[in-house]
Amino acid sequence: MLDQGAPPHNGGPAAPQAPGPGARLMRRKPVERLVAEGGQGEGGSLRRSLGLWQLTMISIGATLGTGIFVVLGEAVPKAGPAVTLSFVIAGLTALFSALSYAELAGTIPVSGSSYSYAYATMGELIAWVCGWCLMLEYGVSVAAVAVGWGEYLNELLDGTIGVTIPAALSAPPGDGGVFNLPALVVVLLAMAFLMGGARESARANTVMVVVKIGALVLFCAIGVQGFRSGNYENFMPLGMAGVSAAGATLFFSYIGFDAASTAGEEAKNAQRDLPRAILLSLAIITALYVLVAAVAVGARPWRQFTDSEAALAQIMSDVTGQTFWGTLLAFCAVIAIASVVLTVLYGQTRILFAMSRDGLVPKVFGRVSPKTGTPRANTLIVSLFCGVLAAAVPLGRLADATSIGTLFAFALVNVAVVVLRRSRPDMPRTFRVPLSPLLPAVGFAFCLWMMGSLSAVTWAVFGVWMAVGLVFYFLYGYRRSRLAAAPAPSEAK
Ligand code: ALA
Repeated sequence: MLDQGAPPHNGGPAAPQAPGPGARLMRRKPVERLVAEGGQGEGGSLRRSLGLWQLTMISIGATLGTGIFVVLGEAVPKAGPAVTLSFVIAGLTALFSALSYAELAGTIPVSGSSYSYAYATMGELIAWVCGWCLMLEYGVSVAAVAVGWGEYLNELLDGTIGVTIPAALSAPPGDGGVFNLPALVVVLLAMAFLMGGARESARANTVMVVVKIGALVLFCAIGVQGFRSGNYENFMPLGMAGVSAAGATLFFSYIGFDAASTAGEEAKNAQRDLPRAILLSLAIITALYVLVAAVAVGARPWRQFTDSEAALAQIMSDVTGQTFWGTLLAFCAVIAIASVVLTVLYGQTRILFAMSRDGLVPKVFGRVSPKTGTPRANTLIVSLFCGVLAAAVPLGRLADATSIGTLFAFALVNVAVVVLRRSRPDMPRTFRVPLSPLLPAVGFAFCLWMMGSLSAVTWAVFGVWMAVGLVFYFLYGYRRSRLAAAPAPSEAK
């Protein structure tokens, strides 16, 4: 873990006057410096190869997956047919934050996403906290999603050749198995694409996104034939509390719309395209979710959503009377979830890339291969880590904590947008949040509301996660921060 190449941090002849510890924690990285360093890694630069279409596909790729294919089945028993409303509420939470993301991604088009926005506005400590939350949103969630992929793969194998991978090889110790092989395999497959290059990965992702959107549209077309308005009679059987609890659960299905903001240094025209990609992807995703949920609870009485895992596939089979359609949907779910793994893994590598450039994590994460223009060593380490995490650790409550970590990062982005408007009103912005600071304040409040709807256990896991992150920061990043080591006097504002 030692970063031999980091500059000295505790004073040398060239160091300007050392600020106190409090000031160091609050030190902000100037936007100009963030942008000027964009793309640069150790030994090379990232390649700018992604246009609006690919960026939008990256965001959709990272978002649309387990949430709609798996988690929907868990949410319906909490809210009844009003699960459609839960999707709208979770979508609104995402929307307000997406507006803030769009403004910041257009103003600070780098790869660190909210970590970098926090660094520019609220200082190093908050930036680290944000980056650490992003590791829940990306690194831990990729492991959780890989586990879901294995479950759908087993369904598919069962439906096609009547064979399933034995529990010993499809679950970690503590969950009834020895090793979750499929989870490791899907992460390694994603790694192979990412090693090849951002453009190649984006191409593969685009194909997978088309398949998953096609599958959901097909579901709607078939499911609507089984629609019974009577299924909507008792719309909100468990009241508003049920709707908001389901909304908090379903928030997981919106995680990832911000993934385009981790591609800022590989976008051809980041300032123009990032805000568009974020908003466009969220609009497409929300429309699909509400439509799919409306058809699902119209085609099947809400009380029958007990077998959570493959609700959509079962509805397809029930409506048509043929298992073929359910199996086809399981196949599409396997593709859909693989694209989440690919793009979320991509996002995690790019966030660590940005953090490494700032000295907060070891230099190896910022090394760029001259051959592919990608951070290959970073990709290898992150993939092995996430793959082993998925395969060997029963993630349980840690996976639940991904939503709370994401919501916290989103809350910070809503604050960051307002702070930057005040501290740098002069900066050119390709997109501006309307009615600021009102809408960012609403976005912030929505995030807190959703966080408040999550369980006490999830909060406890989150608390432990943050404490571990702070220990890491004070042992490593605090001492090795490049900004702390070499602030240009004119930049230390
Ligand atoms: N939103 C992603 C999914 O639902 C994490 O799989």
